[in-house]
Amino acid sequence: MNKKIGTKILGTGSYFPSKVLTNADLEKMVDTSDEWISTRTGIKERRIASSGEYTSDLAYRASLEAIKSANVKLEEIDLVLVATITPDMFFPSTACFLQKKLGLNSVPAFDFSAACSGFIYGIATAKAFIESGLYKNVLLVGSEELSKITDWTDRNTCVLFGDGAGAMVLSASQDNDDVLSVFLGSDGSYADLLLIPGGGSINPATIETLNEKLHSIKMQGREVFKVAISKMAFAAQKALEISEKTIEDIKLFIPHQANMRIIEAVAKKLDISMDKVFVNIHKTGNISSATTITALDEAIKIGKLNKGDLVELIAFGGGFTWGATVLRV
Ligand SMILES: CC(C)(COP(=O)(O)OP(=O)(O)OC[C@H]1O[C@@H](n2cnc3c(N)ncnc32)[C@H](O)[C@@H]1OP(=O)(O)O)[C@@H](O)C(=O)NCCC(=O)NCCS
Repeated sequence: MNKKIGTKILGTGSYFPSKVLTNADLEKMVDTSDEWISTRTGIKERRIASSGEYTSDLAYRASLEAIKSANVKLEEIDLVLVATITPDMFFPSTACFLQKKLGLNSVPAFDFSAACSGFIYGIATAKAFIESGLYKNVLLVGSEELSKITDWTDRNTCVLFGDGAGAMVLSASQDNDDVLSVFLGSDGSYADLLLIPGGGSINPATIETLNEKLHSIKMQGREVFKVAISKMAFAAQKALEISEKTIEDIKLFIPHQANMRIIEAVAKKLDISMDKVFVNIHKTGNISSATTITALDEAIKIGKLNKGDLVELIAFGGGFTWGATVLRV
């Protein structure tokens, strides 16, 4: 009898644009201060893509690193998935632009949108494709240029976001199952609290939508804050239960990096000591679907995670969407 197919994580990679935007820079752009941003969010600086550098370019650089670390041949990749809310264009998908840049002729490629939970949704999608036997080597990318959908005159949102990309190669395996659990959820009744209202079928682009700045992020920060804490704690608990692991079994927790106070509140709610929680928000800001994967890649690179360790990724975002996954790296 054939053994059940499992999902092995072969490698990760990440890429950040070189331009750094500090809180001091933002002080010159809007009525804010380093003190306000640092104490309310934990963010000190974020990376910003240049005007000629696109979401698929960041995805490309992160993908090359992930493919190298996975030690697979480029031509072995048979599915390309990109989580993004800041695609190069509405269509073609950023995954197709990426596929072309990588020279991966003819393999299927598509984008999907679950906002800041995108990468966790992507792990579930990659796992399902692999374990159904449909594809063997999946390139999964979270890539964002939130700087290009930010209203740089709105101090409520412009201090929060940044740009970057992370990638992972997942592969079919008879011996390993590195994705121990995934738990996902969503609730569209919260859609109005965090969104880009313009540009779609509800508010197609017009001079009026441009003047009303409907093409940039709108957020009710305080309301988002409360739901984020409860849903992230809930998702983290559920993914642990499904994996039949406890907090003690997990070497490192990597929560979505949207606000340091959210991260601390989730850790407190779950009774996790902060030295088991990975934080890099001070240098990245919120990079939506790229957040958990770039943080995971950094944790591996700096030796916070070693081969065989268990890690839990936890995310929350617009939709609302939420999710968590327990992985063996
Ligand atoms: C956005 C956020 C940092 C604001 O923090 P907060 O403590 O809730 O602050 P409030 O919204 O209550 O605003 C407090 C005051 O600071 C002001 N303020 C907002 N942004 C500011 C800034 N950049 N600099 C200085 N003051 C600012 C507000 O205007 C308000 O002033 P008022 O009291 O005179 O009206 C916080 O709500 C948050 O992080 N929310 C969740 C965001 C998130 O996670 N989004 C993505 C989810 S994936």
